[in-house]
Amino acid sequence: MSAPQPLRNAAGQFVPPYPRRDVPRPTGGKPPPLPLIYWRTLRELPRIISNPLESFVGFQFDMPVSRYRLFSMPFALISDPDLIRHIFVERADALEAEPLRQKVLRPALRDGMLTAEGETWRRARRTIAPVFSPRNVSSFASGMKATTEEFVEDLLTGPQKISVSDAMSRLTYLVLSQTLFSGEIDDDIEDILADVAFFLEKLSAADPLDFLGAPDWVPRPTRFRGGDATSRLRKSVRDAAEDRRARIERGEAVPDDFLTLLLRAGKGEDGALTLDEVEDNIITFIAAGHETTARALGWTLYLLDNDDDARARAEAEADALDTSRPPENWGKDMPWITACFEEAMRLYPPAAVILRRLREPIKFGEYDIPAGVNVYISPWVLHRHTTLWNEPDAFVPQRFFGEARKSVGRFAYLPFGLGPRVCIGASFAMQEAQIILAVLLRRLRFSYVGDRPPWPVLKITVQPDNGMPMRWTARQ
Ligand code: HEM
Repeated sequence: MSAPQPLRNAAGQFVPPYPRRDVPRPTGGKPPPLPLIYWRTLRELPRIISNPLESFVGFQFDMPVSRYRLFSMPFALISDPDLIRHIFVERADALEAEPLRQKVLRPALRDGMLTAEGETWRRARRTIAPVFSPRNVSSFASGMKATTEEFVEDLLTGPQKISVSDAMSRLTYLVLSQTLFSGEIDDDIEDILADVAFFLEKLSAADPLDFLGAPDWVPRPTRFRGGDATSRLRKSVRDAAEDRRARIERGEAVPDDFLTLLLRAGKGEDGALTLDEVEDNIITFIAAGHETTARALGWTLYLLDNDDDARARAEAEADALDTSRPPENWGKDMPWITACFEEAMRLYPPAAVILRRLREPIKFGEYDIPAGVNVYISPWVLHRHTTLWNEPDAFVPQRFFGEARKSVGRFAYLPFGLGPRVCIGASFAMQEAQIILAVLLRRLRFSYVGDRPPWPVLKITVQPDNGMPMRWTARQ
């Protein structure tokens, strides 16, 4: 591990520490013999499993492409924006799901959109896209605001020192459950939150046996925990969906939430979604859409706490907001807060790896990548790439503010992915983050109280290793 880094650069900008190992740069030439590759992979495996961010090495942050093997599996980390566009947009047809990722995610998410493939995915994406239309997303804004305001009132009656990770997970789960099924899940919220946390923990577990290519019937020790939580969560979602469908069929009034929209979606050529598909996709939205936003919010609060000017400007912008206007319109009046949030997702992209396998070979300029290679973009590496960003490790929200935003490369900044499988919830997440930050920054100030900087760890999302302890004080 590299030595702890200074927290300010020469320009006084905040530079939070992060894992970066400096190892000798590869010299090219013949690949090492297979036994050496196996030995190196075995040595690297604990790091890859406990915190994959620690397995990225210095030269990967300035190379356009780096290729290597883990056991017999060939990987190519792509950080050249033109090649990224070519592979993941223009040649998206040449990609398939990477088997290891599927092994980890599919048992829990089944045919949800994140893990479905082929015609099942196409049908789901086509049917569900209108559910995320700007009009529908706007219609959730008032609920997002009300949920955040209630959350603040609750927080004000509790202890001042909190885990921001837990608090933001709770808040984004409350927002999601309000917008997904209007909170109409019978179970106690604390039980549900515990189940969701277990469920996500289980999802994050890549087992060493997966890397070693053990057959599926060999039990994976890392997956023993969490099974009950997943079944309970699925049952709650299923019960809510069945109940809602019955009410719709009886012609009763039902809430205008995601669940109703999903149950009514796709009456055209594709037909409606089955209850299984509705269930799988609600579970997927919970998995993909709650911790991601929570982590980005937590890092934003941390970064603001370390930059007095940025925070003063963000608070002034939040204070000046005309909150009597519908919250779906707040976004355009908060460009600075939005820039801080975007910069937080640059430094700490919640989804740090976008992984696929090449079904067909790719030839593009000097690059020649054979079929069968696991190609991936790591927003974590791309967003800190020395050839694409000035002061890549520093918190500089100005990059995303005003005219400067236009010079951020389209394929150099990919917090929401790209191509046909770009995040379907991106505008939902942006609206949610803007509303939550506006309410939080008006009412509270968060100060970090950890005895050392939080260390980023990749467990499904990029999260602080210490739960991000912060103390809130009331502002207004
Ligand atoms: C800051 C918050 C979020 C971030 C950073 C994020 C990031 C991403 C990324 C990078 C992908 C592409 C993954 C890949 O190609 O392998 C993705 C896909 C997806 N996201 Fe998000 N996401 C966020 C919020 C949400 C929300 C709020 C929802 C739903 C309510 C959501 C639902 C999905 C779904 C269903 C997919 C799969 C799309 C497909 O494969 O067709 N995400 N997200």
